[in-house]
Amino acid sequence: MEHMDLSGKRILLIISGGIAAYKSLDLIRRLRERGASVRPVMTKAAQEFITPLAVGALSASHVYVDLFSREDEQDVGHIRLAREADLVIVAPASADLMAKMAHGMASDLATAVLLATDRPVLIAPAMNPKMWAAPATLRNAQTLRNDGIHVIGPARGEMAESNEAGTGRMAEPLEIVAAAIALLDGGARPLTGKTAIVTSGPTHEPIDPVRYIANRSSGRQGHAIAAALATLGARVTLVSGPVTLPDPAGIETVHVETAQEMLDAVLARLPSDIAVMVAAVADWRVATASGQKIKKQPGEAPAPLQLAENPDILKTVGHHPHRPTLVVGFAAETEHVETNGRAKLERKGADLIVANDVSPETGVMGGSRNQVNIISAGGIDAWPDLSKDEVAERLAALIAERLGG
Ligand code: CTP
Repeated sequence: MEHMDLSGKRILLIISGGIAAYKSLDLIRRLRERGASVRPVMTKAAQEFITPLAVGALSASHVYVDLFSREDEQDVGHIRLAREADLVIVAPASADLMAKMAHGMASDLATAVLLATDRPVLIAPAMNPKMWAAPATLRNAQTLRNDGIHVIGPARGEMAESNEAGTGRMAEPLEIVAAAIALLDGGARPLTGKTAIVTSGPTHEPIDPVRYIANRSSGRQGHAIAAALATLGARVTLVSGPVTLPDPAGIETVHVETAQEMLDAVLARLPSDIAVMVAAVADWRVATASGQKIKKQPGEAPAPLQLAENPDILKTVGHHPHRPTLVVGFAAETEHVETNGRAKLERKGADLIVANDVSPETGVMGGSRNQVNIISAGGIDAWPDLSKDEVAERLAALIAERLGG
């Protein structure tokens, strides 16, 4: 595959205070491995956790710490720091720094740079779960999103400083790198040369020639993922159940009705590098569909429908001798999203499960937005509420990063 890289990209990395600052040392290494140059800015609080010496050594750059330092200001000045970058990353972004950003404060070098920059900004919040869940922090995060700032994470997990679990852990350095690449278009077509199979939409299981069992899936999420993978350069086959959406441009689309047809179409395209099984496949079909329209008999009760189990396409692919390098499934849940998602990961032999809550009140089924949790062997990452297109873009970037790393 083409190696995705950030070569020639200038990253201004702002490190604020928090135990997760130690991870930004790894982030510097990962960014530089991919060819980026990293110019670090540290807040005063950050220096309580890691030293400018370590940051300077890893970045091979001067470390900027002071708004009023004669040396720093003469060297570049905060306006130039703010402009001479292709991307500004804030990792970790503490609750305090987010609050200052949301209010346009410029009381130190980091905040002055953030206020002055006209470059894309990506922040990776990290804090105690209670601080993340505080209404003020959530409000600030939303304000920042509304201002066009890209927010990655935080993830769920154990906190470094206590045995507490909850949402607040900084996104992993590689995820931050993937988001940076996606933002910079540096890895514009990192999936060039890769093949992908995507299933989408519902299946229709016939009862007789005019009636069928179906579900409310619109195919929007699956179609968006097929398009996002193609945008990153993959050669995509979309196997779609009956939907009203147009076939995405530049993608081979195979139309099927039933789960069995969908399975056959998918297996016919193996081997493939990537499989993303998004379809809401009917778990059951009618055991013996009638060849003729079933007529109602006046005065007689209708014959009960005998159901038979459908093949599980994801599970078949996940355990296939030609198993794709990366197998991604979805988990449509209405409760216990995390537990059920994890169980599904194991059972179906998937590398990633995109778990979402499809309770009617979420409006996911048939709607245009989606709040998903990405479950892998490494843990769970809760993505914010996004449009289905945004979920597709982020998932495609994650897939590219997984295959690249
Ligand atoms: N899936 C599939 N073939 C099936 C059923 C499901 O490929 N016959 C895939 C879906 O495309 C999705 C994942 O399996 O990627 C999860 O589907 P879901 O319906 O949520 O899970 P189930 O396996 O049906 O489990 P449960 O009934 O416990 O929710």
